[in-house]
Amino acid sequence: MYNELGISKRVYETAEKVEKELEEIFKKIDDNCMKSSMKVLKAFKDNNVSTSDFFEVTGYGYTDMGREKLEKIYSQIFGAEDALVRPQIMSGTHALGITLFGLLKYGDTMISISGEPYDTLKSVIGLVGDSSNSLIKCGIKYEQIELINNDFDYEKIAERVKNGNVKLIEIQRSRGYSQRKSLTISKIEKVIKTIKDIDKNVIVMVDNCYGEFVEDKEPTQVRSRYFYKFINEKFRSRNCNFRGICSRKKRFS
Ligand SMILES: Cc1ncc(COP(=O)(O)O)c(C=O)c1O
Repeated sequence: MYNELGISKRVYETAEKVEKELEEIFKKIDDNCMKSSMKVLKAFKDNNVSTSDFFEVTGYGYTDMGREKLEKIYSQIFGAEDALVRPQIMSGTHALGITLFGLLKYGDTMISISGEPYDTLKSVIGLVGDSSNSLIKCGIKYEQIELINNDFDYEKIAERVKNGNVKLIEIQRSRGYSQRKSLTISKIEKVIKTIKDIDKNVIVMVDNCYGEFVEDKEPTQVRSRYFYKFINEKFRSRNCNFRGICSRKKRFS
């Protein structure tokens, strides 16, 4: 067959050899995929999803069972107590903006501990552009701590948290347009522990874009209070244009 398609024996054998070498990595991905699919199916089953949940409601949207179930499903999958998953959240940047504006008030300090935030978030914060409604223009102070060799600068972060006056710490899990590696859950867990051991009131928010289902735990399961979930491109093209925010604690405040 390969011969008929003009693929040489050498190319075929090389592909076979490489596939063999990568077997373990592919197996890990397949296992994770299976576990994640089971997690999702279980949440659908536990919440008794049925056709009636897909009916439209009109008016103020009170008792919209489908919407309530969807948010329960998200909470369960991501080990959170609450979730806000709505089509009105227009983009990942919007979800991040809602979370930051909801949590931060005039005079509060937020720190990004994974270096420069994602490009579109910079104008939300006020690091670029001249929006009169950016976080900085609304009186929020912004600080940044760089990563070292694709990991957190634990010492510097601990020192800064000890100095006090930190309301929120933001972690961007995936790389965005930068060349760094994504941050693993174990690194996120370790840095959250470092922060919470010093001050348990600091809110840790994770930008989890492209991070969901990559590992068997999610940021909300390692004590991050908030994280935003971004339904990936595949879901989007299937007419499911929702984005959401999950909260480890019931109250979004
Ligand atoms: C790390 C990260 N944060 C936030 C976003 C923003 O998402 P959106 O483009 O939907 O606004 C992206 C988009 O790819 C991203 O990669």
